[in-house]
Amino acid sequence: MKNLCKSVIAAGALAVVATGSFADEPAKERQELMKTVKKAVQVLVPMAKGEAPYDAKAAVDAMKAINGVPDPFVALFPKGSETGHDTEASPKIWENPAGFKAKAEEMKTASAEGIKQAGEGVDALKAVLFGQVLKTCKSCHDEYRVKKN
Ligand code: HEC
Repeated sequence: MKNLCKSVIAAGALAVVATGSFADEPAKERQELMKTVKKAVQVLVPMAKGEAPYDAKAAVDAMKAINGVPDPFVALFPKGSETGHDTEASPKIWENPAGFKAKAEEMKTASAEGIKQAGEGVDALKAVLFGQVLKTCKSCHDEYRVKKN
C-alpha cells in the first residue's frame, strides 16, 4: 500500500512537470496527455488479447500512466483555448464543465481499479481494461470530443 501511494504521488509529480512544459499552449498540452494515454492503451490491449506477452509490471505501469492524466487534463481547458492546434475539444466542455469533469473522474476511478487489477493476471487485466477503463474513453469522447478525421 505504501508503495502504491508513493507511485501515485510520483505519477502526479510527473504530470505537474509535463504541465509546466507547454503552459501557454493548453490545447497542445492536453493533446500530449491524451497521446500518453493512447500509448498506455497500446501496451495494454495486445497483452489483454494475448497478442503480446503478459507483463504484470508493465501493465500496472500503463494503468498508472492513465491514472495520472485526468487531473492535469481537466485543468487544460481555460477560456480562449476553444480553438487552435486543430483541437477536437467540443464546445460542450465550456458549456458543461461539471459534466466534463465527471467523465474525467470516471477515468480516474476506473484506472485506479486498473492499477489494483492489472498485476493480478491476464484475465484480471482483461476484465478491468475492457469492462471499465476503455469504456470511460468512449463515454467522454462521444460527448466532449469532436473528431475531425
Ligand atoms: C474526460 C474526457 C476524456 C476522457 C475520459 C478521455 N478522453 Fe481522450 N480526448 C478528450 C478530448 C476533449 C480530446 C480532444 C483534445 C483536443 O484536441 O484539444 C481527446 C483526444 C484524444 C486523443 C487524440 C489526441 C491527439 O493526438 O490530439 C486520443 C488518442 C485519446 N483522446 C485517447 C483516449 C483514450 C485511449 C482514453 C481512455 C483511456 C481517453 N482518451 C479518455 C477527452 C477525454
